[in-house]
Amino acid sequence: MDSIRTQVGIVGAGPAGLLLAHLLHLRGIDTVVVELRSRDYVERRIRAGVLEHGTVDLLREVGLADRLLRERMVHEGLELLFEGEAHRIPLTELAGRQITIYGQHELVKDLIAARLATGRPLHFEAGAVALSDLDSERPVVSCADLSLECDFVVGCDGSHGVSRPSIPDGVLTSYERDYPYAWLGILAEAPPSSEELIYAYHERGFALHSMRSPQITRLYLQVAPDEDVAQWPDERIWAELRTRLSRDSGFALADGPILEKGVTALRSSVVDPMRYGRLFLAGDAAHIVPATGAKGLNLAVADVSVLAAAFDRFYATGKQDLLDAYSDTCLHRVWRVQHFSWWMTSMLHRAPDADPFSHQLQLSQLRYVTSSRAAAASLAENYVGLPLPCLPGPSASAGSSAPDGFASPLSPPAPAPDQ
Ligand code: FAD
Ligand code: DHB
Repeated sequence: MDSIRTQVGIVGAGPAGLLLAHLLHLRGIDTVVVELRSRDYVERRIRAGVLEHGTVDLLREVGLADRLLRERMVHEGLELLFEGEAHRIPLTELAGRQITIYGQHELVKDLIAARLATGRPLHFEAGAVALSDLDSERPVVSCADLSLECDFVVGCDGSHGVSRPSIPDGVLTSYERDYPYAWLGILAEAPPSSEELIYAYHERGFALHSMRSPQITRLYLQVAPDEDVAQWPDERIWAELRTRLSRDSGFALADGPILEKGVTALRSSVVDPMRYGRLFLAGDAAHIVPATGAKGLNLAVADVSVLAAAFDRFYATGKQDLLDAYSDTCLHRVWRVQHFSWWMTSMLHRAPDADPFSHQLQLSQLRYVTSSRAAAASLAENYVGLPLPCLPGPSASAGSSAPDGFASPLSPPAPAPDQ
């Protein structure tokens, strides 16, 4: 078995692991990334598509956005559709920022290419099987044919990885919520039927019209958590989408060959703290949000931007204060996003046991958010994304995030930490 010494061992080559590796590379910090799956598999895995303004700014600042900026679709609003009528939320007018549509798997391709260009190690089909000595100064990541001896380990291995289960019982508080819904998602070779995303509340359940390019649409239907995808032949999917996305003024949904089909459960989970000894958790390894707010990928990016700054400070000065603050800094944002995602989910889905009272409450909320500028502005501010924490640049030894984890126009300026 090969044994490699590195400063930071990164488990998982999803967006969190790959971006962290790049941010640390820019700061001259040595990393090794190990990934369970093949390169082909991770580059084809269809998932998220909405990037917050701050996510794009960060990618641009660190030189990872060239293709993204060429190929992305920029959106300045979205539609909420209910009772047969669509209502536009002008995101940019209300919140001053745009969102970007760019497939997560395209971003992962860009991140892998950037990693390989640095010449630093990225091992595919090298899943971590165990993490050990996490409370020592030399934690170890063991894979089948490889072991990493590290200063720190970062678990970026998603919700089914080995990192979180490696933490001894009783250390973490785990918060969980299951929802009685899942999403059946399709990727179709069909042009978008609307310029913007459509979130639809319908008596038969939620539907979402999204897109990836002028030729490719991404569409979702609320289904039962145990839904069997085999029960959804293509014609049934298109018919159901047409019903749920219909509007009184008429709406023509373009269809085409379905390229990908899958069911994803909606779930909320958070662990606190996002750390044990010298193991840090980032992205889906630490928290899952229901997909309705389009936040999971963006939250993963926020985590690793905080962590990269903390490692930078540690290696530049020996100070651990930002590492010690990592979990609290991230969790403030995580809970804001959990609340927003839960709120969007509750407003837009039809519970299997929904009574007429709940239905009226949902309609009332939808009417309010589409008629009150204040309510719409709150949705918009959360949807485009609250600013990322104010972070020190590479190799800065001073500077800190705002006390509540993200800067906001209402926050006082962040105090400088003790030198
Ligand atoms: P992952 O992307 O899950 O990466 C973890 C990596 O670790 C994987 O490559 C995995 O193979 C690897 N791994 C697992 N175990 C091991 C091991 N033992 N050793 C080594 N490697 C391991 N988010 C948004 O922001 N916007 C959206 O629009 C959006 N839509 C979504 C739609 C769907 C259908 C789904 C499923 C998710 C969506 N999300 C969205 C969520 C988003 O995709 C995730 O939050 C994001 O992938 C998290 O990135 P990550 O790097 O933390 O985890
Ligand atoms: C997409 C996914 C989401 O969860 C969402 O809220 C909006 C769009 C997408 O995959 O395009």
